[in-house]
Amino acid sequence: MAPNVLMIMPGFPGEMPLFTRGLSEVGATVWGVAPGHVAELPAVARRHLSQYLSVPSLFTDERAAIDAIREWTRGVTIDRVCCLWEPGIELAAAIREALGTPGQSREQALRFRNKELMKQALGAAGVRVPRHRPATTAVAVRESAEVVGFPCIIKPIAGAGSQDTFRCDSMAEVEAALTQLGHIHEVSVEEFIDGEEFTYDTICAGGEIQYFHIGYYRPRPLVARTVEWISPQTLSYRHVDDPWVAGGRAMGEQVLAALGFDTGFTHMEWYRKSDGEVVFGEVAARPPGARTVDLMNFASDVDLFTGWAEAEVHGTFSVPVERRYNCACITKRAQGQGRIRAIHGLDRVRARCGDAVVAVDLIPVGEPRRDWKATLLSDGHVTLRHPDWQETMAMADFVGEHLQLYAG
Ligand SMILES: Nc1ncnc2c1ncn2[C@@H]1O[C@H](COP(=O)(O)OP(=O)(O)OP(=O)(O)O)[C@@H](O)[C@H]1O
Ligand SMILES: [Mg+2]
Repeated sequence: MAPNVLMIMPGFPGEMPLFTRGLSEVGATVWGVAPGHVAELPAVARRHLSQYLSVPSLFTDERAAIDAIREWTRGVTIDRVCCLWEPGIELAAAIREALGTPGQSREQALRFRNKELMKQALGAAGVRVPRHRPATTAVAVRESAEVVGFPCIIKPIAGAGSQDTFRCDSMAEVEAALTQLGHIHEVSVEEFIDGEEFTYDTICAGGEIQYFHIGYYRPRPLVARTVEWISPQTLSYRHVDDPWVAGGRAMGEQVLAALGFDTGFTHMEWYRKSDGEVVFGEVAARPPGARTVDLMNFASDVDLFTGWAEAEVHGTFSVPVERRYNCACITKRAQGQGRIRAIHGLDRVRARCGDAVVAVDLIPVGEPRRDWKATLLSDGHVTLRHPDWQETMAMADFVGEHLQLYAG
């Protein structure tokens, strides 16, 4: 009999419909749950779902949501409960516990969600994490900054997308950050780690790393998220056996072992200081967002939406991964406000990069531009790939410089 898989948020955001498709392609019967009406689902998600339950209170009333799901699946054995969207990770664990489905427990999930618990668990396991202190009051934030020292980082214990994250170089900057933190209950105050910023992403099955990926951010996300004119780049690094990334890989393996991660996607961030020391950033029990799974796919001409699903549903991974390319996703932010009125430079990009360009997805002329602080993909992106790392970065910079969107 086909395994039954419950997928929380099968249609949104971003790549979720592709993961839903993956589940059905590996033979699962997919049960989708989300707050919205079925008609709101993208066509790909709808096509690959066998059942759908709309639970308007899914993220606001956990008990009612679990009751509704229990009722809906009565008499059926749910073999897996999946959620690849950060805010639903703990809910998925709670549903597993309610339905008796194997997989990540609520206690485990919490260590992937709460950055203080995460750092405590990792620090205890001997992983190098930034010096850190939790704080729930302004007084505690000031005190923690004193103890941690400057520069420091203040960030929510369950943040995403670098929202509400502040670098403070002095007590005056701590005071300025405090005026903007009123809506956050608990923050982490951390030692600022000066260095380059990478990812280490995996697909695991049965506690074994079946696939891994190294990403590189140019510039560091906090800088990219603070300066509007920058065209942030996420790169996929091909030469994963290089010494440059060896420390990060080893640390990532140590992290997964320390947290007892079993099956599914993970997304880790780590820093490499100029003296070569590696420091751990954070780990999430989900894939990286902002089209990074596309980069993994373009790098090896594979389909990891299905590869992940195979690991999740069958506990195996049979995708042959040959690392042929480095990849880059360059996000663009229009100049000016309002609607996109012109796109310049695409012809130059095509002339310079040729076949290396594998995707162009820009907001069309006439459409309103997005809020660049609220979305990682901003007003569109270009994806390219090349076997040579320096050439990949050179082409990515060319896109950053010569492709321009204008709004007004
Ligand atoms: N201790 C630190 N030292 C230096 N930079 C840091 C530190 N903590 C956070 N940052 C910067 O802030 C960014 C966002 O922080 P973090 O990754 O912890 O939060 P996030 O909001 O979960 O991020 P995202 O969802 O974008 O991955 C990091 O990518 C990094 O650039
Ligand atoms: Mg992060």
